[in-house]
Amino acid sequence: MTEEPELDVLLGTERTFPPPPAFAEAAAFNDPGIYERAAADPEGWWRGWAEQLEWIEPFDRVLDWSDPPHAKWFAGGKLNVSANCLDRHVAAGNGDRVAYYWEAEDADQTGPEGRKQITYAWLLDQTQRFANVLKGLGVGKGDVVGIFMPMVPEAAVAMLACSRIGAVHNVVFGGFSAESLRERMEVSEAKALVTADATLRRGKPVEMKGQIDPVLDQLPAMEHVIVVDRCGTGPSMNEGRDLDWAEAVSAADPVCPPEPMDAEDPLYLLYTSGSTAKPKGIVHTTAGYLTHVTATHRMVFDLKDDDVYWCAADIGWVTGHSYIVYGPLANGATSVMYEGAPDYPGKDRWWEIVERYRASILYTAPTAIRSFMKWGDEYPAAHDLSSLRLLGSVGEPINPRAWLWYHEKIGGARCPIVDTWWQTETGGIMISPLPGLTTTKPGSATVPLPGIEAAILDSEDNEVEVGAGTLVLTRPWPGMARTLYREPERFVETYWQRYGPATYLVGDAARRDEDGFFWIVGRIDDVINVSGHRLSTMEVESALVSHPSVAEAAVIGVNDEHTGQAIVAFVTPRDGVEAGPELTADLREHVADRIGKLARPKQTLFASDLPKTRSGKIMRRLLRDVADGNDLGDVSTLRDPSVVESLSEQISRDR
Ligand code: PRX
Repeated sequence: MTEEPELDVLLGTERTFPPPPAFAEAAAFNDPGIYERAAADPEGWWRGWAEQLEWIEPFDRVLDWSDPPHAKWFAGGKLNVSANCLDRHVAAGNGDRVAYYWEAEDADQTGPEGRKQITYAWLLDQTQRFANVLKGLGVGKGDVVGIFMPMVPEAAVAMLACSRIGAVHNVVFGGFSAESLRERMEVSEAKALVTADATLRRGKPVEMKGQIDPVLDQLPAMEHVIVVDRCGTGPSMNEGRDLDWAEAVSAADPVCPPEPMDAEDPLYLLYTSGSTAKPKGIVHTTAGYLTHVTATHRMVFDLKDDDVYWCAADIGWVTGHSYIVYGPLANGATSVMYEGAPDYPGKDRWWEIVERYRASILYTAPTAIRSFMKWGDEYPAAHDLSSLRLLGSVGEPINPRAWLWYHEKIGGARCPIVDTWWQTETGGIMISPLPGLTTTKPGSATVPLPGIEAAILDSEDNEVEVGAGTLVLTRPWPGMARTLYREPERFVETYWQRYGPATYLVGDAARRDEDGFFWIVGRIDDVINVSGHRLSTMEVESALVSHPSVAEAAVIGVNDEHTGQAIVAFVTPRDGVEAGPELTADLREHVADRIGKLARPKQTLFASDLPKTRSGKIMRRLLRDVADGNDLGDVSTLRDPSVVESLSEQISRDR
């Protein structure tokens, strides 16, 4: 791999990539007129998509936006998400169709158990049974159910079973710590939790149930824990509270009629990071969300009947919710679901999977692409990737060099790339190419999808036609978050106040070029994006200061070649505490315990004080300059100018 600086690559690639003619011709969406038609009648556009779902009672009205930012989509309608994802495909005679080719991490050692063909009929059977298990435990409409799981089919079953009975799932990424799980279960008052004994990580079981047992006792609302036996580790079970998944499911009644849900009933909560230490419980509702993910999954991935689609995200993030579970299943797609690490047992594991299942669409994050680049071209080159016809990217800006590598080494220079911009809050994809229509530019998510409207505003709130500013969304969309769980004011203040109640403040900075293409530049708030995982600086800071040796801490995100951004922590130890490698390791461990391994600082710097203004405010901008090794300029207005010198010295020593 040549190590050209990013800028050279950019300048050298004012290349654009029109859809290959054969691809465009075969694409379902290849008429450029759809943008105009959707813009002229957005409600008609979304109505057309909603009508493709199966309704128990039809809706009266597409959109009620009379009280922004509180939108109602498809009011009056009733439907059930699991029935749309499962029953209607089975009823249409597609019960034997594969929903997921599930591949265990240890598939090579476990024979047929490690490679399962999960059909729509099987999913429907398991979903009904597990829905009855939940009902039998007293879980009903509106109750919150936590899901803390590895990437196993039961995770999807658990989500679908909740939707079948109108329970609201609250999935927590399996890599989060027990403490993060506790917080998310406590604030949502989850009544039940679905988890596993352990998850496989590079061939070894990593305990899940045992890890969270200590916090389960601290949750008064938590009545039942259902445990999937993934690794046979035999965790301790608390009688009366804990149940074995397989036993419960096999004993359950196989028929559970789908609960008719109002279009605006909540479907799920998903906690994500914001500007404060307290995660935000994003609330998604039923009909609008399902319409949005179904439509975007079909359009953006140009989904065809014979596609084998692989979204390599984790079910615990919104990408997994929308584009592993709900969008693909509602569309009756055949997907790949892979349980484990990308480099186990070898660094070609993903490419072996593409070859084995003849995957035709691959959707992943730039951070994964950069890892593959670093590992070397020989791994993909050793496999037949000719089944691929479309590639996708999500979660963070994709740098042009990674885009080009993905295009050439994975896509064989023949596959369009859809760089999809969206957020947990938007529910589904918002800005993205349509692969049969859009001429792409490496690094740009291109233009808003039909029916979506975005703009860039400058510091005086004027719209920027060409140039940089703050990204906003100027029209309601069906998948939009409806509120923050039990924090309705915070919802309005965070997203809908800065520019008035009908303009959604995204939290990203972006630039628009002469062609009207959007380029996401980064966040405007204190959110750090590490390997596509969203973290707040405050969350990490509060984890650090909860350590007995820490008096004060500040955290910033710095650019990182591999992870996009990385966390640098500035820490003032308490008097008498020795700062050094031991404390650094201790603090990393502590952050892993409090939040999860993904939040561990890459670098920790110690100082007797943090750079502050005379009024005592921590100067983050200066910390950023220190971390980047920039010229610090005049620091004489600081309370203690010597602090930055000492930090700068540590930085140059560490590097
Ligand atoms: O900053 C943007 C970045 O990820 C943020 C949303 O993170 P999260 O809610 O965790 O959802 C990630 C999966 C959708 C956005 O505010 N982001 C996401 N996709 C892109 C992106 N930045 C640039 N390009 C993208 N394609």
